Amino acid sequence: MPCTVVVCGFFGDTGKGKVISYLALADDIEVAARGGVGPNAGHTVVYKGQKYIMRMLPSAFVNERCRLLIGPGVLVDPEVFLREVELVKAHGRAGLDPQCAVIEPKHKEADRRGHLKEKIGTTGSGCGPCNADRALRVAKLVRDVPELKPFLTDVPLEVNRALDEGRKVLLEGTQGTFLSLYHGTYPYVTSKDVTAAAVCSDVGIGPTRVDEVIVVFKAFVTRVGAGPLPGELSQEEIERRGWVEVGSVTGRRRRAAPFNFELAKRAVMLNGATQVALTKMDVLYPECRGAREFDELPKEAKDFVARLEREVKVPVSLIGTGPEAHEMIDRRDELGLRR
Ligand code: IMP
Ligand code: MG
Repeated sequence: MPCTVVVCGFFGDTGKGKVISYLALADDIEVAARGGVGPNAGHTVVYKGQKYIMRMLPSAFVNERCRLLIGPGVLVDPEVFLREVELVKAHGRAGLDPQCAVIEPKHKEADRRGHLKEKIGTTGSGCGPCNADRALRVAKLVRDVPELKPFLTDVPLEVNRALDEGRKVLLEGTQGTFLSLYHGTYPYVTSKDVTAAAVCSDVGIGPTRVDEVIVVFKAFVTRVGAGPLPGELSQEEIERRGWVEVGSVTGRRRRAAPFNFELAKRAVMLNGATQVALTKMDVLYPECRGAREFDELPKEAKDFVARLEREVKVPVSLIGTGPEAHEMIDRRDELGLRR
């Protein structure tokens, strides 16, 4: 897998952090770059019993050799970034592109009132107002923030050079396909496109450089904030099924619905996915918990995977069976997908 893009196929919170932390270790990823919107995302990584919620740095930090980059398309909250560098001891290996735009206090204030809060139910992290300023060409850039100077690097150049040298590169998207400004449930969406093509643009690589696009689906669909959710269940039903989740950035209770094959098909199309990662199979089928081999799965779980592959017409190569990075069934060898 020389160059892999990982994106979410639903409304965010499908487990990109988990999938990426697994790949970072299993494939020994050397360069990870985050695309996407910014600190409105919270990617959950559970590694060696400790839980991390990463809003700025790539989830590949679990591999201590991996370079951790943030592409110029991404919005940076300096406080959140510096806190995460400290948290995961990334001083020597974190890099920011000087052209990333900076979220300022005024952006957060604007995001926490009016129609953004009341109607859209944004995360309040300032991303929408900052992207608006960026489009108006009045945003401040990372190159103008003295505290961030030590981290500046030409991210597109680093990533393209790594690819030229045949090193393993992973690009991390944020949010989810149906939160995309272009392809989602407008106006209940985030402030830019978040599909795989956008992630390439955020980081500064051309689409011809990508080898694999992994779209991540969770075994059920969740959504936080406002907007349509087909097949939405009542909070009582969500509790009965054991699907209760709380937003990692906002602490809000997530809404939930059963797995949606129609959305999955469209997400595979919009992202040009070559593989599917399916997470939280252990929540849907508790007997899956901790399994590392496909054969260990109960028949219903195998049937579910087979149906998904039939519907979306790409292989389900990774299956999450627990929160820890290593709790994963990796079928890439048996499916002949290893490059
Ligand atoms: P914003 O991106 O903060 O402007 O929020 C716009 C919409 O996207 C709201 O419905 C948010 O709840 C949702 N959203 C933004 N980021 C995430 C995420 O990382 N996971 C899930 N939902 C998100
Ligand atoms: Mg999340």
